[in-house]
Amino acid sequence: MEIIRKISNDKNIKTIDSQVYGTVEELISSKNIYSNKSAYVIKPSEGAMSKGISLAKDFKQLLADAKKISATPSLIIDLIDRMRTLKHKGYIKESTHRKKFVVQDFIPNLQGDWKVLIYWNKFYVLRRLNREKDFRASGGGRLSYTRDIPNGMLDYAKSIIKHLNLPNVSLDIAFDGKTFYLLEFQAVYFGTYTLEHSSFYFSFNKEWEIVEKKSILEDEYVRSIISYIDNDLKYLE
Ligand SMILES: Nc1ncnc2c1ncn2[C@@H]1O[C@H](COP(=O)(O)OP(=O)(O)O)[C@@H](O)[C@H]1O
Ligand SMILES: [Mg+2]
Repeated sequence: MEIIRKISNDKNIKTIDSQVYGTVEELISSKNIYSNKSAYVIKPSEGAMSKGISLAKDFKQLLADAKKISATPSLIIDLIDRMRTLKHKGYIKESTHRKKFVVQDFIPNLQGDWKVLIYWNKFYVLRRLNREKDFRASGGGRLSYTRDIPNGMLDYAKSIIKHLNLPNVSLDIAFDGKTFYLLEFQAVYFGTYTLEHSSFYFSFNKEWEIVEKKSILEDEYVRSIISYIDNDLKYLE
Protein backbone atom coordinates (compact mmCIF):
# COMPACT_ATOMS: atom_id res chain seq x y z
CA MET A 1 0.00 0.00 0.00
CA GLU A 2 2.94 2.33 0.59
CA ILE A 3 3.79 2.16 -3.10
CA ILE A 4 0.27 3.38 -3.86
CA ARG A 5 0.88 6.23 -1.44
CA LYS A 6 4.13 7.04 -3.21
CA ILE A 7 2.60 7.29 -6.67
CA SER A 8 -0.49 9.09 -5.42
CA ASN A 9 -0.86 12.84 -5.74
CA ASP A 10 -3.64 13.08 -3.15
CA LYS A 11 -2.78 15.62 -0.46
CA ASN A 12 -4.78 13.77 2.23
CA ILE A 13 -2.84 10.56 1.68
CA LYS A 14 0.39 12.51 1.80
CA THR A 15 -0.04 14.49 5.03
CA ILE A 16 2.53 12.05 6.41
CA ASP A 17 5.95 11.68 4.83
CA SER A 18 6.41 7.99 4.17
CA GLN A 19 9.15 6.19 2.23
CA VAL A 20 9.35 2.56 1.25
CA TYR A 21 12.66 0.75 0.84
CA GLY A 22 13.49 -2.59 -0.74
CA THR A 23 16.93 -2.94 0.84
CA VAL A 24 18.98 -1.34 3.57
CA GLU A 25 21.38 -0.03 0.90
CA GLU A 26 18.54 2.03 -0.57
CA LEU A 27 18.03 3.67 2.82
CA ILE A 28 21.75 4.43 3.06
CA SER A 29 21.68 6.12 -0.33
CA SER A 30 18.78 8.29 0.85
CA LYS A 31 20.64 9.30 4.01
CA ASN A 32 20.52 13.01 3.17
CA ILE A 33 16.73 13.17 3.56
CA TYR A 34 17.16 12.12 7.20
CA SER A 35 19.72 14.75 8.15
CA ASN A 36 17.45 17.14 10.04
CA LYS A 37 17.48 14.98 13.18
CA SER A 38 13.75 14.59 13.73
CA ALA A 39 12.27 11.29 14.79
CA TYR A 40 11.16 8.49 12.51
CA VAL A 41 8.96 5.45 12.75
CA ILE A 42 10.24 2.38 11.01
CA LYS A 43 7.96 -0.55 10.12
CA PRO A 44 8.25 -3.83 8.29
CA SER A 45 6.18 -3.58 5.10
CA GLU A 46 4.15 -6.56 6.24
CA GLY A 47 2.90 -7.10 9.75
CA ALA A 48 0.29 -6.30 12.32
CA MET A 49 -0.11 -5.57 16.03
CA SER A 50 2.79 -3.09 15.92
CA LYS A 51 5.24 -5.95 15.49
CA GLY A 52 8.75 -4.81 14.56
CA ILE A 53 7.74 -1.14 14.69
CA SER A 54 10.18 1.19 16.38
CA LEU A 55 10.98 4.84 16.91
CA ALA A 56 14.37 6.18 15.83
CA LYS A 57 15.66 9.53 17.01
CA ASP A 58 18.41 9.87 14.40
CA PHE A 59 19.77 8.23 11.26
CA LYS A 60 22.19 6.01 13.17
CA GLN A 61 19.38 4.42 15.14
CA LEU A 62 17.18 4.31 12.05
CA LEU A 63 19.83 2.37 10.18
CA ALA A 64 20.39 -0.05 13.07
CA ASP A 65 16.63 -0.74 13.33
CA ALA A 66 16.32 -1.06 9.55
CA LYS A 67 19.10 -3.64 9.52
CA LYS A 68 17.29 -5.67 12.14
CA ILE A 69 13.95 -5.86 10.35
CA SER A 70 15.24 -6.20 6.80
CA ALA A 71 17.84 -8.94 7.34
CA THR A 72 17.61 -11.87 4.93
CA PRO A 73 20.39 -14.09 6.18
CA SER A 74 21.45 -17.03 4.06
CA LEU A 75 24.83 -18.60 4.62
CA ILE A 76 24.96 -20.36 1.25
CA ILE A 77 23.84 -17.42 -0.88
CA ASP A 78 26.26 -15.18 0.97
CA LEU A 79 29.10 -17.61 0.43
CA ILE A 80 28.40 -17.92 -3.31
CA ASP A 81 28.19 -14.16 -3.56
CA ARG A 82 31.53 -13.77 -1.81
CA MET A 83 33.06 -16.14 -4.34
CA ARG A 84 31.63 -14.03 -7.15
CA THR A 85 33.48 -10.97 -5.81
CA LEU A 86 36.72 -12.92 -6.12
CA LYS A 87 35.92 -14.21 -9.59
CA HIS A 88 34.49 -11.07 -11.20
CA LYS A 89 36.27 -7.78 -10.84
CA GLY A 90 33.98 -4.94 -9.77
CA TYR A 91 31.12 -7.30 -8.85
CA ILE A 92 28.61 -5.68 -6.54
CA LYS A 93 27.35 -8.11 -3.92
CA GLU A 94 23.66 -8.78 -3.44
CA SER A 95 22.08 -7.10 -0.46
CA THR A 96 21.85 -9.24 2.67
CA HIS A 97 18.98 -6.99 3.85
CA ARG A 98 16.19 -7.40 1.35
CA LYS A 99 12.98 -7.40 3.41
CA LYS A 100 10.94 -4.34 2.50
CA PHE A 101 10.34 -1.69 5.14
CA VAL A 102 8.73 1.70 5.56
CA VAL A 103 10.11 4.84 7.19
CA GLN A 104 7.67 7.56 8.23
CA ASP A 105 7.93 10.85 10.00
CA PHE A 106 7.05 10.36 13.65
CA ILE A 107 3.86 12.21 14.56
CA PRO A 108 4.44 13.35 18.16
CA ASN A 109 1.97 13.73 21.03
CA LEU A 110 -0.64 11.23 19.89
CA GLN A 111 -2.69 9.47 22.54
CA GLY A 112 -3.61 6.76 20.11
CA ASP A 113 -5.06 6.25 16.70
CA TRP A 114 -8.36 5.37 15.06
CA LYS A 115 -9.11 2.25 13.12
CA VAL A 116 -11.70 3.10 10.48
CA LEU A 117 -13.18 0.31 8.40
CA ILE A 118 -15.25 1.38 5.44
CA TYR A 119 -17.68 -0.90 3.67
CA TRP A 120 -19.11 1.30 0.93
CA ASN A 121 -21.24 3.92 2.75
CA LYS A 122 -20.85 2.39 6.25
CA PHE A 123 -18.00 3.60 8.44
CA TYR A 124 -16.96 1.64 11.56
CA VAL A 125 -14.72 3.48 13.99
CA LEU A 126 -12.62 2.07 16.83
CA ARG A 127 -10.52 4.21 19.17
CA ARG A 128 -7.19 2.65 20.11
CA LEU A 129 -5.16 4.22 22.92
CA ASN A 130 -1.40 3.83 23.06
CA ARG A 131 0.12 1.06 25.12
CA GLU A 132 1.55 2.21 28.48
CA LYS A 133 4.67 4.35 27.97
CA ASP A 134 4.74 3.51 24.28
CA PHE A 135 3.95 5.45 21.12
CA ARG A 136 2.13 2.49 19.57
CA ALA A 137 -1.57 1.74 19.79
CA SER A 138 -2.04 -1.21 17.44
CA GLY A 139 -2.09 -4.55 19.27
CA GLY A 140 -2.23 -2.86 22.70
CA GLY A 141 -5.79 -3.87 23.42
CA ARG A 142 -6.90 -0.48 24.83
CA LEU A 143 -9.92 -0.28 22.57
CA SER A 144 -13.19 1.58 22.77
CA TYR A 145 -16.13 2.31 20.56
CA THR A 146 -17.01 5.94 20.82
CA ARG A 147 -19.48 8.12 19.00
CA ASP A 148 -17.40 11.11 19.97
CA ILE A 149 -14.87 11.41 17.16
CA PRO A 150 -12.79 14.34 15.87
CA ASN A 151 -14.68 16.69 13.63
CA GLY A 152 -13.79 16.03 10.02
CA MET A 153 -12.37 12.53 10.51
CA LEU A 154 -15.14 10.82 8.57
CA ASP A 155 -14.78 13.30 5.71
CA TYR A 156 -11.05 12.63 5.75
CA ALA A 157 -11.64 8.86 5.66
CA LYS A 158 -14.16 9.24 2.87
CA SER A 159 -11.75 11.30 0.79
CA ILE A 160 -9.19 8.50 1.11
CA ILE A 161 -11.48 5.68 -0.02
CA LYS A 162 -12.74 7.89 -2.81
CA HIS A 163 -9.21 8.53 -3.97
CA LEU A 164 -8.29 4.84 -3.74
CA ASN A 165 -11.58 4.02 -5.48
CA LEU A 166 -12.37 0.80 -3.62
CA PRO A 167 -15.51 -0.88 -2.24
CA ASN A 168 -14.00 -1.47 1.21
CA VAL A 169 -10.85 -0.50 3.03
CA SER A 170 -9.16 -0.40 6.45
CA LEU A 171 -7.53 2.85 7.57
CA ASP A 172 -5.38 3.69 10.59
CA ILE A 173 -5.85 7.39 11.14
CA ALA A 174 -4.11 9.71 13.60
CA PHE A 175 -5.17 13.21 14.59
CA ASP A 176 -2.89 15.62 16.43
CA GLY A 177 -5.58 18.23 17.00
CA LYS A 178 -4.83 19.93 13.71
CA THR A 179 -4.11 17.47 10.92
CA PHE A 180 -5.29 13.98 10.04
CA TYR A 181 -2.63 11.44 9.10
CA LEU A 182 -3.05 8.13 7.37
CA LEU A 183 -0.62 5.93 9.30
CA GLU A 184 -1.48 2.74 7.48
CA PHE A 185 -4.05 1.48 5.01
CA GLN A 186 -5.03 -1.95 3.79
CA ALA A 187 -7.39 -3.07 1.10
CA VAL A 188 -6.88 -6.64 -0.04
CA TYR A 189 -6.57 -8.28 3.34
CA PHE A 190 -7.34 -6.72 6.70
CA GLY A 191 -8.68 -7.45 10.17
CA THR A 192 -12.45 -7.10 10.58
CA TYR A 193 -12.73 -6.92 14.38
CA THR A 194 -13.87 -3.28 14.24
CA LEU A 195 -16.98 -4.15 12.25
CA GLU A 196 -17.79 -7.38 14.02
CA HIS A 197 -17.83 -5.87 17.53
CA SER A 198 -19.48 -2.58 16.75
CA SER A 199 -23.10 -1.92 17.70
CA PHE A 200 -23.36 1.08 15.40
CA TYR A 201 -21.87 2.65 12.32
CA PHE A 202 -21.61 6.07 10.72
CA SER A 203 -23.18 6.61 7.37
CA PHE A 204 -23.48 9.60 5.10
CA ASN A 205 -26.74 10.70 3.66
CA LYS A 206 -26.12 14.34 2.82
CA GLU A 207 -24.87 14.58 6.43
CA TRP A 208 -23.14 12.09 8.71
CA GLU A 209 -25.48 10.09 10.87
CA ILE A 210 -25.10 7.31 13.42
CA VAL A 211 -27.05 4.13 12.81
CA GLU A 212 -27.50 2.01 15.95
CA LYS A 213 -27.35 -1.44 14.41
CA LYS A 214 -25.03 -4.41 14.49
CA SER A 215 -23.55 -5.50 11.18
CA ILE A 216 -22.78 -8.89 9.73
CA LEU A 217 -19.40 -9.01 8.04
CA GLU A 218 -20.41 -11.24 5.14
CA ASP A 219 -23.44 -9.07 4.35
CA GLU A 220 -21.42 -5.87 4.35
CA TYR A 221 -18.58 -7.37 2.36
CA VAL A 222 -20.88 -8.59 -0.40
CA ARG A 223 -23.00 -5.46 -0.31
CA SER A 224 -19.95 -3.21 -0.71
CA ILE A 225 -18.75 -5.12 -3.75
CA ILE A 226 -22.17 -5.27 -5.42
CA SER A 227 -22.65 -1.53 -4.83
CA TYR A 228 -19.25 -0.88 -6.34
CA ILE A 229 -20.05 -2.92 -9.45
CA ASP A 230 -23.50 -1.32 -9.76
CA ASN A 231 -21.85 2.08 -9.57
CA ASP A 232 -19.60 1.31 -12.58
CA LEU A 233 -16.59 0.52 -10.36
CA LYS A 234 -16.55 4.01 -8.91
CA TYR A 235 -16.73 4.94 -5.26
CA LEU A 236 -19.65 7.15 -4.22
CA GLU A 237 -19.67 10.88 -4.91
N1 LIG B 1 4.19 7.77 11.83
C1 LIG B 1 3.74 7.49 13.05
N2 LIG B 1 3.81 8.41 14.05
C2 LIG B 1 3.37 8.11 15.30
N3 LIG B 1 2.85 6.92 15.65
C3 LIG B 1 2.75 5.96 14.71
C4 LIG B 1 3.18 6.19 13.35
N4 LIG B 1 2.94 5.07 12.64
C5 LIG B 1 2.40 4.19 13.49
N5 LIG B 1 2.28 4.69 14.74
C6 LIG B 1 1.74 3.97 15.92
O1 LIG B 1 2.18 2.62 15.83
C7 LIG B 1 1.07 1.73 15.74
C8 LIG B 1 1.32 0.62 14.73
O2 LIG B 1 1.54 1.14 13.43
P1 LIG B 1 0.87 0.54 12.12
O3 LIG B 1 1.56 1.16 10.96
O4 LIG B 1 -0.59 0.72 12.19
O5 LIG B 1 1.26 -0.99 12.17
P2 LIG B 1 0.43 -2.34 12.37
O6 LIG B 1 0.48 -2.99 11.04
O7 LIG B 1 1.19 -3.11 13.37
O8 LIG B 1 -0.96 -1.99 12.78
C9 LIG B 1 -0.12 2.58 15.36
O9 LIG B 1 -1.29 2.03 15.93
C10 LIG B 1 0.22 3.95 15.93
O10 LIG B 1 -0.23 4.05 17.26
MG1 LIG C 1 -2.11 -0.73 11.90
